[in-house]
Parts: sequence; C-alpha cells; structure tokens
Amino acid sequence: MTIRSPSCEAVAEAASLLRAGRLVAIPTETVYGLAADATDGLAVAAIFAAKGRPSFNPLIVHVADLAAADRLGVLGHVAELLARSFWPGPLTLVVPRRPDCAVAELATAGLTTIALRMPAHPVALAVIRAAGRPLAAPSANRSGHVSPTTAAHVAADLAGQVALVLDGGNCAVGLESTVVAPYADRLVLLRPGAVTRDMLAAATGLPVLAAGEGDADRPASPGRLLAHYQPVAAVRLAASAPRPDEAFLAFGPDAPAHDGPSLNLSRSGDLGEAAAALFGALRALDRPGITAIAVMPIPDHGLGEAINDRLARAAAPR
Ligand code: TXA
Ligand code: MG
Repeated sequence: MTIRSPSCEAVAEAASLLRAGRLVAIPTETVYGLAADATDGLAVAAIFAAKGRPSFNPLIVHVADLAAADRLGVLGHVAELLARSFWPGPLTLVVPRRPDCAVAELATAGLTTIALRMPAHPVALAVIRAAGRPLAAPSANRSGHVSPTTAAHVAADLAGQVALVLDGGNCAVGLESTVVAPYADRLVLLRPGAVTRDMLAAATGLPVLAAGEGDADRPASPGRLLAHYQPVAAVRLAASAPRPDEAFLAFGPDAPAHDGPSLNLSRSGDLGEAAAALFGALRALDRPGITAIAVMPIPDHGLGEAINDRLARAAAPR
C-alpha cells in the first residue's frame, strides 16, 4: 500500500488502478472512501472482502455530475431538487435503479434502489472524472469500526487491502453523508449527516420522516446496524464526568478536568467542529488499559442529530 499526496500524476495512477479493478482509498469531504469501479462486479466484491462487510449492505455510488446520476437512477422531481440544492456535497439520494443501470448488482445488494452521491472534495471529483465511471465507495474502515477521517486511519484499518491511498488531509465534515429517500410527498431520513433535517425540509417544503416512521412501504437502510463505529474500548454516553480508569471525550466550555486521556470535541461548543473531530477523537482515546470512553452530552439539534446517531451506535451492545 502506498500513500501519495493527490498530485495530477497520483490522480491518474488512481484512475488507472480503478479501471484495472483495483481498490483505491480517496478523500471526500465526509470521510475517506474505499473506491472501486462500480460497474465491475469483481472489483465491488473486493470492497466487501477488504472491509469484512456483509454483502446485504449496499454501497453508495459516487458520480461527478447530475447527468451521470440520472443515467443510473430515476431521480424524479424531488430528488433532482435535492441534488440541485446540495450537490456537490454530503447528501446521498436513494432512488429507483434504472433497468439499464450499469452498476454491478452486488453494489446495490440486489435491491431495486440505488444510493447516489456527488462528493464535493476536489480530489474525489478528479478521480471519478479520470476513471470515467461511477465509483462505489463505502467508508474506508474495517466493517463496524470507526470511519476514517485521515489517510493514517485508512492505513491503520486496511493496509494490505488497498493498492493506493490518496492523502487529502483531514476530512472537513468528518461524518458520513446524510442518506435520504425522496418521495413526491415526503422525505425519509435513513442516516443523519451534515445536510440536516431542517435543511432538507427548507429546500423541499416536505416533511422529513425517520426511517420506519408512519410509512407502510418505508425503505429500510439495510446496513444501518445498531452496533457500528465502535472503538475497542466501551463507550459510555451522557457522562457528566469520567471515572479514573476511563478516557474522557468532552464537549463545550464547562468540561470537568480529568487526569487520564482526555480530548474536547469543541471548547466553544461548535457542533461542526465537534463533528469533524469525532471519529479521530474516538480512535485517539481508544488505548490499551482504557476500559471505556466517557462522552459528555451533545445537544441534539442541527448537526448534533448526526453526532448523537454515531455515538449511540458506538455505545450499542456488541
Ligand atoms: O459520506 C459517505 O457517504 C461515505 C463517503 C465515502 O462517500 N460513504 C459511506 O458509505 O458512508 P457506507 O457504505 O459506509 O454507507 C452507505 C450507507 C449504508 O448505511 C447503506 O445501508 C446505505 O448507505 N445504502 C446504500 N444503498 C442503499 C439503498 N439502496 N437503500 C437504502 N440504503 C442504502
Ligand atoms: Mg461505513
């Protein structure tokens, strides 16, 4: 495995590896993705093998423009409005798969729907364009582990599984994209992210329902397992103060002092700063001898919904 800074030559090398069916880790504005040619079933199978990911969990297909998305899925009026409002950016749209969709069935886990996203990171866009095909890319971590927000995180999880890592530095958002299934009269939020519930509602004027809420033919997000994003240490939520044998993940200006390992997600209480720092902090505090990571309460509004979603899964029984 080589880690390269994303020069023009490195982007070209990434594209030719991808066209040859190999795996390349790329930076996006959310988290690092483990990319493969989405139209190559064997390459997609290599993603599932490298991550140890169950094959019922479909992958997000990354495109470089709306026209490419339109060739793979049936966007419809509401999905197109969302794409025009938030692409490129941290929003994934789950729409019906076109009958002539070129993406391998394995990437969509045999479903009749496909998850599409146009990332904002210039390196991700450059690689998709240079490869000249849609890229399937889940987060570049071992299945169930904390998602990677640096090239070093990718190397720690997947060294030996990936041909090349393009190093784009720290991911600006730090949490995976919002996943939403749009319908004519409502949106179903399958995974909260940096495009928040309020932003989705404001852009469309439609109600935003939780997955499984008041909806008979609701879509499920097959890969949203309760236990996910898990460090080796246990995670204890809503902790006002840490115990002596715990590491402490604090938030805001009023954090109590701690003698053991301790990090503050945002001293000023900024949710965007906290989201960008979350996964790196969980990895940094996950040390031998630490029984648990105690996490202070995080407000649940705006981006806090996505942060608390990830923390709840990190703390779930294993
Ligand atoms: O920010 C992101 O979205 C990152 C970067 C690399 O783009 N990717 C990412 O992929 O988080 P992954 O595979 O870790 O998460 C994909 C999520 C899963 O929860 C999966 O179940 C859901 O999207 N998903 C994919 N296709 C779906 C579909 N057809 N219907 C419902 N959910 C789907
Ligand atoms: Mg993931």
